[in-house]
Amino acid sequence: MTRVAIITSSDSGFRNERQDISGSVIQKIVEKNGYEVVHKIILPDELDVLCEEMKRIADNNIANLILTTGGTGFSKRDCTPEATEKIIEKKVPGIPEAMRMFSLQFTKRAMLSRASAGIRKETLIVNLPGSPKAVEECLEYIISELEHGISIMLGKSSECARK
Ligand code: MTE
Repeated sequence: MTRVAIITSSDSGFRNERQDISGSVIQKIVEKNGYEVVHKIILPDELDVLCEEMKRIADNNIANLILTTGGTGFSKRDCTPEATEKIIEKKVPGIPEAMRMFSLQFTKRAMLSRASAGIRKETLIVNLPGSPKAVEECLEYIISELEHGISIMLGKSSECARK
């Protein structure tokens, strides 16, 4: 079972002023798809805090997939893509590109998403948007292909041909 960590980046969520619905939406979707959620945390929109948590999870091999929600828009405090890009060793631009392309059918505002993705050691990190609706739309679209990428990342598979 692939281990997943969920990070919600939200100042108001961290202060307990808002319920973390998006984090729960992620948990429901990944569990439905056979992943195991090993860690779930709400953090403030602070670059260093987000960097340290993502590094801790990757460097201690706590999870092979980190899904973040929130902090990908234009608000002054939004910094999840910057934190992700600061600690990854390899960029994976195709995943956010695919999410934006798919999301444009729902709202042209998808072009405002600054989401990023990449790999640190044996952990794939993917930024999802902040709203529960957007999280559901994006994650349901990409999830079928994540397992294949993760298995190549872990050296468990080198074969891309489909049966
Ligand atoms: N993607 C999907 N699939 N559905 C949506 O409703 N909302 C967009 C976009 N991506 C949306 C979406 C909006 S309104 C914004 S501002 C950006 O994601 C950034 O989202 P965030 O600030 O919630 O992280």
